[in-house]
Amino acid sequence: MIETKLHEDVLEIIIANAPVNALGAAVRGALSQAIDAAQGDDQVKVILLRGAGKLFSAGADISEFDQPPTGCALPAIIDTIEASSKPIVAAIHGTALGGGLELALGCHYRLATPSAKMGLPEVSLGILPGAGGTQRLPRLVGLDAALAMIVSGSPVDASSALAMGLVDRLVDEEDFPAAAISYARILDAPRRTRDRQVADDAGAFDRFAAANARRIETLDAPKACIAAVKASVELPIDEGLALERKLFAELVTGAQAKALRHAFFAERAAGKIADLPADTPRRPIAKVGVIGAGTMGGGISMNFLSAGIGVTIVEMTREALDRGVGLMRANYEASARKGRLTIEEVEQAMGLLAPTLEFEALGDCDLIIEAVYENMEVKKEIFARLDAIAKPGAILASNTSYLSIDEIASATSRPADVLGLHFFSPANIMKLVEVVRGEATADDVLATGMQLARSIGKVPVVARVCYGFIGNRMLIPRQDNAYAMLLEGATPEQIDRVHTDFGMPMGPLQMIDLAGVDIGWHRDVDRIESLQDALCAAGRWGQKTKAGFYDYDEKRKPTPSPAVAEIIDEFRARAGMVARAISDEEIVARTLYTMVNEGAKLLEEGIAQRASDIDIVWLYGYGWPRHKGGPMFWADEIGLTTVVQGLERYADRIGEDFSIAPLLARQSDDEGSPTT
Ligand code: CAA
Repeated sequence: MIETKLHEDVLEIIIANAPVNALGAAVRGALSQAIDAAQGDDQVKVILLRGAGKLFSAGADISEFDQPPTGCALPAIIDTIEASSKPIVAAIHGTALGGGLELALGCHYRLATPSAKMGLPEVSLGILPGAGGTQRLPRLVGLDAALAMIVSGSPVDASSALAMGLVDRLVDEEDFPAAAISYARILDAPRRTRDRQVADDAGAFDRFAAANARRIETLDAPKACIAAVKASVELPIDEGLALERKLFAELVTGAQAKALRHAFFAERAAGKIADLPADTPRRPIAKVGVIGAGTMGGGISMNFLSAGIGVTIVEMTREALDRGVGLMRANYEASARKGRLTIEEVEQAMGLLAPTLEFEALGDCDLIIEAVYENMEVKKEIFARLDAIAKPGAILASNTSYLSIDEIASATSRPADVLGLHFFSPANIMKLVEVVRGEATADDVLATGMQLARSIGKVPVVARVCYGFIGNRMLIPRQDNAYAMLLEGATPEQIDRVHTDFGMPMGPLQMIDLAGVDIGWHRDVDRIESLQDALCAAGRWGQKTKAGFYDYDEKRKPTPSPAVAEIIDEFRARAGMVARAISDEEIVARTLYTMVNEGAKLLEEGIAQRASDIDIVWLYGYGWPRHKGGPMFWADEIGLTTVVQGLERYADRIGEDFSIAPLLARQSDDEGSPTT
């Protein structure tokens, strides 16, 4: 856990706790002992603290936060380090995060390799840096930089760290740790962060709060971070540290932190597939083909181009191809204008794109992703053609959002090479990819799909084949009930407000407006059998026609639409229905509980591997508020009995073929039964 090496008068203390040198109880105990022993060892003049393997330390062991505190506390160890009469130097390579960076802040000097990254990401776990970070960082780097790092949780690179005074100097990467040891040897006196004053800047907090108001509105942790940093200016350091401890203790046991911890571990669990050995070979992917240069095809391609992977993109007509390529360029240029990319990077990415009308050009691609519209016949035809031209071993993927991968694969002579890669719109931005595993999909094809998705910065979740896979299948009851409740008397604004108040970025009807009200419409203006038909017949196809469930202005800002209210009234009258008042509670039950119910069915059917995978789909594909952990976690938190009772209350209105998932009913029974 802790190794020591004496180099004449410099003692190296090395944190060796693979994979990320987390500072669990055993590490803390051993570290504390090593520091104490070094204090009493006359041979040791200077102590150098570093991490083994690829990084300094990823901080506290997050899994310990669900248990009562044990062993030496990290803040006490850091105090001992700071109080040491012998200089202690932190030598940072790889990453120093959270408690890892706080450990370094307690050291008297800090060195870093040029590729190192340093951050205090606690806020993303719903807590604050609880080992002195909120008091020591502002003393080193000033209020503005400290607030930015602590409240955003984003790491800084080594050169920024040097510029802001977080590290004292950069040391040679190739010569690490020897270069750090040589530097440490010339230091003779401790220099304590606690002795510094924070440069006072009365306006800093107001400026920061105003600039970040919206982002932190509903979250506990950023507010506590700001309060703690304020203490670094207003209180003596020991009082500031005590306040930080108190706020940490309050946050760590709170509901938001619990949900955010769940999200952290769920994301990592999603990468693991139970029956797929970790050493399954991967197929090399150097060149990707994309069929279709529409919004999806273009967005998907951009992911690969940005990661430096060449893309051959195929369209049917010159016009469609030019339009698609033009849109990709425009998207990249917009990012450059916002400062997220340089012009050179834009050209580099676009230079990797090979647009073509020749299907045969896909012949040398290692992976080909079909991204044309949802029609089984069309997709089967494409896959049959692909079968004839793709090179042996090429992976053939469909971006279908609903259709059966097994049926698509049946159009080829190589169903083992076929899988689904379902990206979410806008595909260059949304992080989720559902990796759909067909009956015949080979293990190495699945493993390659998962790895590839991660390599382009996505969060992959594996799903088996069913209509809509995980995410869209759960969307169906939500959408059906939203439509039904409009006819029963709810307004689009009310239904959507319940969802946005909950923390979703948009409600079900706003989402339909964004995707297109006309998706799945039969396109016959005289055939009006549903509310969707009525809206589409009136040209209300959603944001793209500036009219859907809402009216939209030039900036796509929605306002309630009297025309829609009229269409709904008319349609309701035609159906012989009378409007009634609908409670928010009914909306929650019929749109959110029904999703949980569908999620439970997905688990029973083995479509999703585990409940937390479903949560990841909703966090990364649909903007479920992260501090509520995802639908399945949330259901556990509010109690499955509550969910089942809510569903039972409205069962007769939810839909003719509605049934409560047996898994949900069973678990709710267990929850209700007394524990002994
Ligand atoms: N505690 C416990 N486990 C951790 C951990 C931590 N701080 N950080 C990573 N792990 C685990 C992961 O769960 C994963 O486990 P499995 O292999 O069993 O799934 C394993 O370590 C490897 O992690 P990643 O897959 O994330 O590896 P990576 O190489 O992609 O990323 C990393 C490495 C950038 C360090 C990333 O793991 C990370 O961001 N970790 C979290 C850092 C963090 O939030 N630190 C703050 C902790 S809170 C704190 O320190 C409070 C305080 O004030 C005292």
